Amino acid sequence: MNTTIDKIQQSAKSELESASSVDEVKSISIKVLGRKGLITQFLRNISALPESERPTAGKRANQAKKNIEVLVDETIRKLETVSTAPDDLIDVSLPGRPSFAGKLHPITQVTDSICDIFTRMGFEIVEGPEIESDYYNFEALNFPKNHPARDMQDTFFVSDEVVLRTHTSPTQPRVMEKQQPPVRIIAPGKVYRCDSDLTHTPMFHQVEGLLVDDNISFGDLKGTLTAFVHQMFDEETGLRFRPSFFPFTEPSAEVDIRCVICRGKGCRVCSQTGWLEILGAGMVHPAVFENIGYDTDRYSGFAFGMGVERIAMLKYGIDDIRRYYENDLRFLQQF
Ligand code: PHE
Repeated sequence: MNTTIDKIQQSAKSELESASSVDEVKSISIKVLGRKGLITQFLRNISALPESERPTAGKRANQAKKNIEVLVDETIRKLETVSTAPDDLIDVSLPGRPSFAGKLHPITQVTDSICDIFTRMGFEIVEGPEIESDYYNFEALNFPKNHPARDMQDTFFVSDEVVLRTHTSPTQPRVMEKQQPPVRIIAPGKVYRCDSDLTHTPMFHQVEGLLVDDNISFGDLKGTLTAFVHQMFDEETGLRFRPSFFPFTEPSAEVDIRCVICRGKGCRVCSQTGWLEILGAGMVHPAVFENIGYDTDRYSGFAFGMGVERIAMLKYGIDDIRRYYENDLRFLQQF
């Protein structure tokens, strides 16, 4: 008899412990405590017991009933607390927490748009190593050893024969020695020079361009760069080509655009000149073709190299190049 009531209590307890919803608890409660439940049935059958056992059996059964009732109430409370807790904790009057989405660095964005413009014109994107041999960085580009022209580039030397590339131009001989014309490539990437001030950082980015084929003239260079400037800035932006010198181009030019800030009237950004220098360019020097074995009688080509930071500064009106590399989110999130 006692064991029967103990069993009822035990199994009710373990069922309640594993119950996962209030409904489940209620049906356990009905099964055990209800009008036709196990305990009621037990109490009804008490008369069948020997008279001496009846009082204890009744007492125990009532005690078990109370215990289970308490347990049922507790379990319901627990389950309700779990399911209502989140609602209680959310204060809907508080402002939401914004989630920050990452985005591309402005230099990457500008590099991508430069590359997009040239790929639309049929140029192919290539890349070269940042740690470069003296040969590709200088020698193949017609900078003879000990030639003062090397002073133009504030070189970081890794060893006598190895440098951090000072420009993306070494991609020119690297590409040409692997293929015959036509060559039509642009080469974006990092370059290094020992220089640091408002407009220079020791690491910066360039995009190199090279086109070699039959009958390529300076007119093709002008047309290509004009199309580029009109897409990068706008159709109204004028260009001018100034004579310049690079050992690997002849003739060489520096290309200026009409100041995007004052439109040529003269301002602080263009040092009152109305013009802004954006890139170096020229017709590929025959000595470069000779170095890599192209037929100099047949082929001609043009090359250009532009600084990405410089173009991004002009496009966005930024006056200190170091802003790009301070990792200040207030600056970076504007792009
Ligand atoms: N490599 C040159 C520089 O960094 C730019 C350039 C590229 C000039 C190609 C002419 C042709 O200054």
